[in-house]
Amino acid sequence: MKNTVQGLDHPHSLAGYFQYHKELEDKISAFFHRPPGSTIVYTTGYTSNSASLLCLLKKEDIAIVDMAVHSSVYEGLMGGTMQRFLHNDIEALEHKLAINKDSYRTKMVIIDGVYSQDGDIAKLKEILELCRHYGAVLLVDDAHGIGVIGKTGRGALEYFDLLSQKDVIITGTFSKTFANVGGYLVADPQLISYLLFQSRQYAFSAAATPAICGVTRAIELVDEEPQWQI
Ligand SMILES: Cc1ncc(COP(=O)(O)O)c(C=O)c1O
Repeated sequence: MKNTVQGLDHPHSLAGYFQYHKELEDKISAFFHRPPGSTIVYTTGYTSNSASLLCLLKKEDIAIVDMAVHSSVYEGLMGGTMQRFLHNDIEALEHKLAINKDSYRTKMVIIDGVYSQDGDIAKLKEILELCRHYGAVLLVDDAHGIGVIGKTGRGALEYFDLLSQKDVIITGTFSKTFANVGGYLVADPQLISYLLFQSRQYAFSAAATPAICGVTRAIELVDEEPQWQI
């Protein structure tokens, strides 16, 4: 297996960055119809949320979160400005966006695609429209939707025909559909590049072991064996 795919341009070159890491990142990017460089792989789904949010949002920013998001999101927002809105309630979200319209540098709305407690699906279309209207970034944790819903198993965004909306940040886990351990965040390559170097839990922690190759194959199986989807 060949090492140094990106040499010292990649922080994990210190911890071992191999061809199989790059293959997995590219596979995930392509799965979501994004260009190469659109994915960062974390060692858990938990840190895909907590570590990335800790790195992305600072004191000038605000996170507006559905009250039913996973605890990993809440952990990433500790110490920052966070407001919750009633679960999947569009009016409540609009109210939060409107009152915070001019007060923060970045406004990030955080939701699940499919919610873990009740299995209900986010009102993604209306939420994305509101985000655009109020200039907020949307992050969708689709740990429970990927491989399960959407015409080809791409999750909640595909379910609502929004997969082409490349400004949406997606997070997910390998511990559900993909039967492994780890997680990922998919976003604009510039944002990914920032996380690769600035997200401490990524840069100063071990890289995934070759066991992760099982995920690369599992992603192919989503297309090869669609009968497992609901
Ligand atoms: C919605 C959601 N996000 C993130 C996670 C964290 O995933 P992981 O088990 O890979 O840490 C979970 C785990 O159950 C989850 O339900």
